[in-house]
Amino acid sequence: MAKSARQMHLGVYVMGTGHHVAGWRMKEAQAGAENLDLLVHAARTAERGKFDLFFLADALNTGPTLHPSILVRLEPLTLLSALAMCTSRIGLAATASTTYTEPYNLARYFASLDHISRGRAGWNVVTGAFPEAAANFGRDKHPPHEKRYAIAAEFVTVVKGLWDSWEDGAIVMDKASGRFADISKMHTLDHNGEFFNVKGPLNISRPPQGHPVIIQAGASDTGRDLAASIAEVVYAVQQELEPAKALADDLRARAVKFGRNPDHLKILPGVCPIIGSTEAEAKQKLVELGGFLDPVAALKVLSDRLGHDLSGYPLDGPVPELPPSTVMQGHAVTLSALARKYNMTLRELRDFAAGAMGHRVLCGTPEMIADGLEEWFVAGACDGFNLMPPWFPGPFDDFVDHVVPILQKRGLFRTEYTGYTLREHLGLPRPPHPVAARAPEREMLRTG
Ligand SMILES: Cc1cc2nc3c(=O)[nH]c(=O)nc-3n(C[C@H](O)[C@H](O)[C@H](O)COP(=O)(O)O)c2cc1C
Repeated sequence: MAKSARQMHLGVYVMGTGHHVAGWRMKEAQAGAENLDLLVHAARTAERGKFDLFFLADALNTGPTLHPSILVRLEPLTLLSALAMCTSRIGLAATASTTYTEPYNLARYFASLDHISRGRAGWNVVTGAFPEAAANFGRDKHPPHEKRYAIAAEFVTVVKGLWDSWEDGAIVMDKASGRFADISKMHTLDHNGEFFNVKGPLNISRPPQGHPVIIQAGASDTGRDLAASIAEVVYAVQQELEPAKALADDLRARAVKFGRNPDHLKILPGVCPIIGSTEAEAKQKLVELGGFLDPVAALKVLSDRLGHDLSGYPLDGPVPELPPSTVMQGHAVTLSALARKYNMTLRELRDFAAGAMGHRVLCGTPEMIADGLEEWFVAGACDGFNLMPPWFPGPFDDFVDHVVPILQKRGLFRTEYTGYTLREHLGLPRPPHPVAARAPEREMLRTG
């Protein structure tokens, strides 16, 4: 295939038990989402593979039939702080909810991670895909979809304002004069909004990246608007090239509408690689995974994705026509379209969604996987991929050892890091402090 001047961005979405519902049962899979050695290995492997980003999802509830990675897990920011000390270049991103936390707390957590990691933090802004979380926070119910997004938009504005509490260079620590901080460079936010009242300033200086990188994955109309207005990385759930391209075009057009440079929005669809030294070997792994499937857990995963309890429907009947999801619209639309196009039964869709929770599965030799990635990238359907290995560590090690070198040889992926921060890896500018951004204006006024 032709060489491309653009290079793709690669992230790995790490779930300790793997993305396939039954991945943890594979012979060489290592146990769990609480296995620090395994997680350190995955972070170091991502860095060895020159990946942009290591990502941890999160949920604020658990239950007996959830995906095994969701059942028990470490708190992501605590874990990323530990991983920051075992790595030096890989970006470190995690989900945090705007529905069940306070902006002041989150601004501190991510600013701390950015300082600890020397500029490698990213925040996946979610409104919460699991309504059951409400009961853990003294709430009667999960707020409705549109309200959750309205809260999220204000939440992010507050967090960014708090990150700008101190101008760059405000902490002078001048031993000679005895001046620790330049208080004229401290700013009080005084935010009084519809959902939050936050005075500020934040008790932590400006993060090394100015603002940690903002990630978003909403795919509904409101979710796309939020992504286009605030996100610098967008996680997408796409199965086929044309709809993926349409989503990317739509997100970029919306970004322009919000006055943003569309190049500052990096769209990374999820991909689950099933790699074999031959195509037959890769397919055999898929069959083996299918043999381990727990049908109840798999149907619960699909129910969560489609936003409706599917346990009452006949498995060998067609996928039922359901009212729009109020939880994860993006997943629901993609999976329902696939079921319609291929006339799938509920059982077939259940087994398909077990692969990577609704994301695209690429099964084959390293060359075939590289071809599948290159095709979407060159077509402009994305800026890279969010890799979702079916289990850990094997398939991710295989990707780094066998697929990354092919992408590098084709000129599609970096052979060495050229920067240190996550922003530098992604080619994103560091946001200037609002005071610095206004400086040329002030200078013009001063000089007339
Ligand atoms: C790759 C990826 C990771 C996600 N991670 C989380 C997560 O950790 N926690 C969560 O509650 N939702 C997560 N989501 C769900 C989305 O953030 C979003 O809330 C969901 O897609 C619903 O938005 P929509 O209705 O606008 O499509 C994730 C989605 C994707 C595609």
